[in-house]
Amino acid sequence: MSKPRGVFVAGNWKMNHGPAAARAFLDGLARLGFPSDAVRRASGGRALQSAVLVPAVSLEVARASVAQHGWSDLLQVGSQNTHFEASGAFTGEVSAPLLKEIGIELSLVGHSERRQHFGETDESAGKRTASLLSQGFEVILCIGETRPEREAGQTEAVLSRQLGEVFRAAGAWMKSKGLEFSRTHWARLTLAYEPVWAIGTGLTATPEQAQEAHAFIRQWLRGAGTAGGAAAGALSVPPAETTAILYGGSVTPENFAGLLACPDVDGGLVGGASLKPESFLKLIETGAQAI
Ligand code: 13P
Repeated sequence: MSKPRGVFVAGNWKMNHGPAAARAFLDGLARLGFPSDAVRRASGGRALQSAVLVPAVSLEVARASVAQHGWSDLLQVGSQNTHFEASGAFTGEVSAPLLKEIGIELSLVGHSERRQHFGETDESAGKRTASLLSQGFEVILCIGETRPEREAGQTEAVLSRQLGEVFRAAGAWMKSKGLEFSRTHWARLTLAYEPVWAIGTGLTATPEQAQEAHAFIRQWLRGAGTAGGAAAGALSVPPAETTAILYGGSVTPENFAGLLACPDVDGGLVGGASLKPESFLKLIETGAQAI
């Protein structure tokens, strides 16, 4: 198989598509012929994974609509953000148990817009990741550098710092609950490299830039996962070879195949181009062809 970790195509709708638009999107996908035979075949055994990450108010309708279309095994519906505590005085937040009640078990964590506008940090992203993984959720955890950081040649330093702080906080959260990360937890984690300068700007990273950052992230995981790395930082990290790393930032149906041709790019986390069924479908088809 040319993509050893398969391909994951996740659409992040951000603050778009309320319940009516969510239903119309999914009905539109059906009218366009989703899923094709290729998508159905590739989704067996989860070589191809697809998801939409929708506003909280649309989760229930999207989940029900996916089930009505008979796509529960083909298209996941996930939250864009989930708190680490189960309940309590956290106005405006949703928790894993609340989401589970409506059949949601996938969440994005640490998106740069959460960091930029809502004070999310590596530490809170780490806690959210650990809490969600320990409750059976799948998590897509985002990291990435800003434009000034890239221009200053700090991309790798920023990625190392983010990874280190996220997994340190995740480990501390698990320890505080008397838990330890296992293979089963890590198998539910996907990383997303989203250079902030590429998000919503039309400035996609070139396949070379994406590959370089993804290979660096994988190399960091290898290092931190070794006895020396773990002893030095007391870190538990996901396995380097099996953890999927998605690229996000101005992904389109036109540039996706080129990005997927990179050995360490295992899928896409897509904003703008995931909002229309036509382009989202093209992205999924491109994903199926890359496998
Ligand atoms: P765009 O695809 O609109 O650049 O957004 C990327 C993103 O932030 C996905 O999470």
